[in-house]
Amino acid sequence: MYEEGRAYPVRKLSLDLHAPARRLWFGGDAFRTHWFNSLSQGLPLAERYASDCVKAAMAHVDDPELLERSRDFVGQEATHSFLHRQCNEQLEAMGLHYWLDGYTAWRMSKAHWLSWRSGLALTVAWEHFTTILCEHTLAHSGIESEADEPYRSLWMWHCAEELEHSALSHDLYLACRGSYLRMLLIYLYGSMLFVTDFLTQAFFNIYQDGQLFKLATWRDVARYFLGRKGLFWYALPRWLGFLRPGFRTPRGQHAALIDAALGALKERLRIIPKAHAQRSAA
Ligand SMILES: [Fe+2]
Ligand SMILES: [Fe+2]
Repeated sequence: MYEEGRAYPVRKLSLDLHAPARRLWFGGDAFRTHWFNSLSQGLPLAERYASDCVKAAMAHVDDPELLERSRDFVGQEATHSFLHRQCNEQLEAMGLHYWLDGYTAWRMSKAHWLSWRSGLALTVAWEHFTTILCEHTLAHSGIESEADEPYRSLWMWHCAEELEHSALSHDLYLACRGSYLRMLLIYLYGSMLFVTDFLTQAFFNIYQDGQLFKLATWRDVARYFLGRKGLFWYALPRWLGFLRPGFRTPRGQHAALIDAALGALKERLRIIPKAHAQRSAA
């Protein structure tokens, strides 16, 4: 699934996100469904911010290989946001409003308070959380066998590409001589934002859907986070691992997960020629 010479090819995924779908599309479970709906609702703004931070940092490096990978990163994130915006229109039509819209837009309007290097550190932090979540989603959440289309394909594709470009922002931060102390402080701040944003919206979705006071919903919450392969147990050592001085996001460690996910979707995927992808993402 790789185009020769490109670290992170931009792939077009053919999906009809406006087709009717089961309301609880993730195995009939309210929490898993609305947790991923919440992620989708928050992603377009978050990915635009990450791309803006990477673009700002690109002015401070001159390594051609790193610059090329950065352009590919921006191209992949732009394609993700494009499909998630369509997904979010469908969620809105189903009566699931993005409650945090005004708050996150306000936060974005204050983004200039952070320096470009701190913005990049926040991007590194969020890419690390995304990597943990995507590893867990592809390996342990049941997305391939239990989720309905088109969400199954949307999330498998998005997770595979997130794992593919997971090291880019960290490599860029280190190339820009970002310090450990700045990274540490922003990482803790970013962790708080990530957890509160997405959990708040997930539970608001559950509430809007009339599922908040059902025992099955809370059983699903407990299983998803605290079950044998639950996200909490999976994420904790990986979240802590980032705090170690000298930690560097490894490259190429997810090849098997990426190949399996993209291989399962190969009929729906088409690689966009490089020049076109980078023009559209600019
Ligand atoms: Fe993305
Ligand atoms: Fe990403």
